Amino acid sequence: MLGAGYVGLVSGACFAEFGVDVCIVDTDPSKIEALRQGRIPIYEPGLDKLVEENARDGRLTFTTELKEAIRGADAVFLAVGTPTRRGDGHADLTYVFAAAEQVAKAAEGPLVLVTKSTVPVGTGRKVKEIVTAARPDVQIDVASNPEFLREGNAIGDFMRPDRVVIGVESERAAAVLKRLYRPLYLIETPVVQTSIETAELIKYAANAFLAVKITFINQMADLCERAGANVHDVARGMGLDGRIGRKFLHAGPGYGGSCFPKDTLALARTAQELGAPVTIVEQTIAANDARKEQMAERVIAACGGSVEGKTIAVLGVTFKPETDDMRDAPSLVILPALAAAGASIRAYDPQTGHARQVLPAGIHWADGALDAAKNADALVLITEWNEFRAISPAKLKAAMRGEVVCDLRNVWDPAQMREAGFAYSSIGRP
Ligand SMILES: NC(=O)c1ccc[n+]([C@@H]2O[C@H](COP(=O)([O-])OP(=O)(O)OC[C@H]3O[C@@H](n4cnc5c(N)ncnc54)[C@H](O)[C@@H]3O)[C@@H](O)[C@H]2O)c1
Repeated sequence: MLGAGYVGLVSGACFAEFGVDVCIVDTDPSKIEALRQGRIPIYEPGLDKLVEENARDGRLTFTTELKEAIRGADAVFLAVGTPTRRGDGHADLTYVFAAAEQVAKAAEGPLVLVTKSTVPVGTGRKVKEIVTAARPDVQIDVASNPEFLREGNAIGDFMRPDRVVIGVESERAAAVLKRLYRPLYLIETPVVQTSIETAELIKYAANAFLAVKITFINQMADLCERAGANVHDVARGMGLDGRIGRKFLHAGPGYGGSCFPKDTLALARTAQELGAPVTIVEQTIAANDARKEQMAERVIAACGGSVEGKTIAVLGVTFKPETDDMRDAPSLVILPALAAAGASIRAYDPQTGHARQVLPAGIHWADGALDAAKNADALVLITEWNEFRAISPAKLKAAMRGEVVCDLRNVWDPAQMREAGFAYSSIGRP
């Protein structure tokens, strides 16, 4: 497994749990050293235990030495990053291509090279060209096996996925992948076997569709605010329709994270280049980017039009609960905008490992929600960690100096918040 990030670590540990011998390789020696010492470089619930147990049982090992890792391997997975390429929005495939070439050069015998990273349609073909050019003497079958896990619930998603997608062009690759996923066959997980191009596109189609769904309900929320309707009830009323479904209909500050922003952008670019633009996705990207800016303006408006010299408490900064991942988090737009408008920020998040590195210096990091609220003029909830749901409004009110609360995730009850004396606003609810 090349890559010890969110996907490589989870996939590697879960395959090991299935009984497969897995060696995880990363070019970052500090990650490998940490893993060898039993420290997990990311926060993902349950991952520490899974890694520890499988490492102890000898099925899961870590190295920086590629040759050693792939010796005798039936399959080699690429789970390296595919971030947005600077400037044009395409997926940056530098890591994927470099990793593929390294694997080919180090190969000592036939293997199946499986791309788990999210890559634009056509990448598998290029990977095939790269490995064939590097090692015409070794049989390397390429395959696509996109990953659909959600951070925060990654182990459950990997162990009990809605489906497994495998894009193959040889029987051998299909057989190796089916053998690896055999435990999931036993729980009757649907397996979608397709061409490599189709598998690559399925991943982008799924992510882009979910991004559109979120953006749709966010725009409905804005409409509800104008119309005096309640987006929570609109979402429930429409989501109970089996054709629509209730998931991903929660209005909020705009989607972020390691996947939706970059994958929607990459899909839009690929589609433009192939002459079949997906304008609905282009619109979604623009609406979502604008929404994050609007959230800061919303907070400033709730504070009477200015936050100059005011203290603002912020609850939750990661892109979603149960992760420490900060990639494209709405807080990365909202907090700098509030700071630039003259606010002092007291923030609290249960996982600040990455946040402290990427948010502006000058933020005061509080020890808990009530500590963040201390003497604050206003409070903004950006990420809905469970521990914020049960906070006593009275205690929050007592800790704060002001009464403005902007709940960007609709976690609190408007009536209760108003009863406690707050000037409370949420998203799309009267
Ligand atoms: N994070 C998610 O929730 C998620 C879900 C589904 C799919 N994906 C996709 O999976 C891929 C990986 O995402 P991630 O979030 O795990 O990325 P990440 O940035 O957390 O991890 C990538 C890792 O790959 C390592 N790496 C880079 N080049 C390497 C090489 N040549 N050999 C070995 N290791 C190398 C990096 O050091 C890094 O540790 C991306 O394409 C992403 O779009 C991510």
